[in-house]
Amino acid sequence: MQRFQDRHVLIFGGNSGIGLSAARGFAAEGARLTITGRSPETLAAAAEETGALALCADIAAPEQSRDAVAAAVARHGPIDVLFVNAGVGGFSPIAEVTEAFWDDVHGVNLRGAFFAAQAALPHMRARGAIVFTGSIGSVAAIPGNAAYAAAKAGLRAVARIFAVELMPRSIRVNVVSPGPTETPLFRRNPGMTDADVEAMRAQMRAATPMGRIGEPEEVARAVLFLASDEASFITGIDLYVDGGCIEL
Ligand SMILES: NC(=O)c1ccc[n+]([C@@H]2O[C@H](COP(=O)([O-])OP(=O)(O)OC[C@H]3O[C@@H](n4cnc5c(N)ncnc54)[C@H](OP(=O)(O)O)[C@@H]3O)[C@@H](O)[C@H]2O)c1
Repeated sequence: MQRFQDRHVLIFGGNSGIGLSAARGFAAEGARLTITGRSPETLAAAAEETGALALCADIAAPEQSRDAVAAAVARHGPIDVLFVNAGVGGFSPIAEVTEAFWDDVHGVNLRGAFFAAQAALPHMRARGAIVFTGSIGSVAAIPGNAAYAAAKAGLRAVARIFAVELMPRSIRVNVVSPGPTETPLFRRNPGMTDADVEAMRAQMRAATPMGRIGEPEEVARAVLFLASDEASFITGIDLYVDGGCIEL
C-alpha cells in the first residue's frame, strides 16, 4: 500500500520509539517526511534510515516548533499529515510533585504539543489529518502519574477542540492512546534503576489483559490508519491501543 504517496508528513518526536516506528511506516508508504526531536544522534540515524528531513527542535520552546514548521514547509511544501507525538514520562507521588516537575511534563506533553500543532495549522492542506499521541494514563488512575495524566487528559480535550475548529477545512483530528509500549521512554524515568524498570515492566504486563507490553509498531499502525484516507469518516476519537487495559 502507498497511502501517503507524495504527501508531506510532519512528525514532532519522530526519532525514537513510537514516532520512529511511524516514520518508518510513513516513509515505506511514499511520504515526504519531516521529523523533529532533540537528540542529534538519533535524528541523524532516523534521517539516514527513512530519508526524512530531520530537525532539532525542543517542543517545550514554541518558537523552535514554529522554526521547524517553516523549515519543513520550505523543503516539502504544505503539510498533509501532522503527527504530534513528542512526550516525556515521569512518575512522582503527589507529595513529591514540584512545580518544576509539573511544568516540565506539561511544557512538553500539553503546552508544547498545543503550540506545535498551532504552528502547523496555517500550512495544512484541506483534507489533511492530525494525530496526537495521548495515553491511557489520561483515563487510568495510576499512582504517581498525576502530572502526566493531567497533561494527556488536557491534550485529549484540546484535540477535540481542534477537531471541531478544523471541520470547515476538512481536516480530521484524532488521538491515539497507547497502553504500555516497549520504547526508550521506560528507561527515561529519572531516578529509576534497571531493577525498578524491570519491576515496572512486570507490573505493566500483569495489568494488561493481553498479558504483554505492546510494540511501537502496533501503535504506529493505528496512527497510520487514522492519518490515512481509510479513516475518512473518523474525527475526534481517542483510539486506545492498549492490549485491552481500558476496554476490558
Ligand atoms: N511507551 C509507552 O508506554 C507510552 C504509553 C502511553 C503514551 N506514550 C506516549 O507516546 C509518545 C511517544 O513516546 P515513546 O514511548 O515512543 O517514547 P520515546 O522513545 O522516549 O520517544 C519520545 C519522543 O518524543 C521526543 N521528545 C521528548 N521531549 C521532547 C522535547 N522537549 N522536544 C522535542 N522532542 C521531544 C523524543 O525526542 P528525543 O529522543 O530527541 O528527546 C522522542 O522522539 C509520548 O507522547 C508518550 O507520552 C508512551
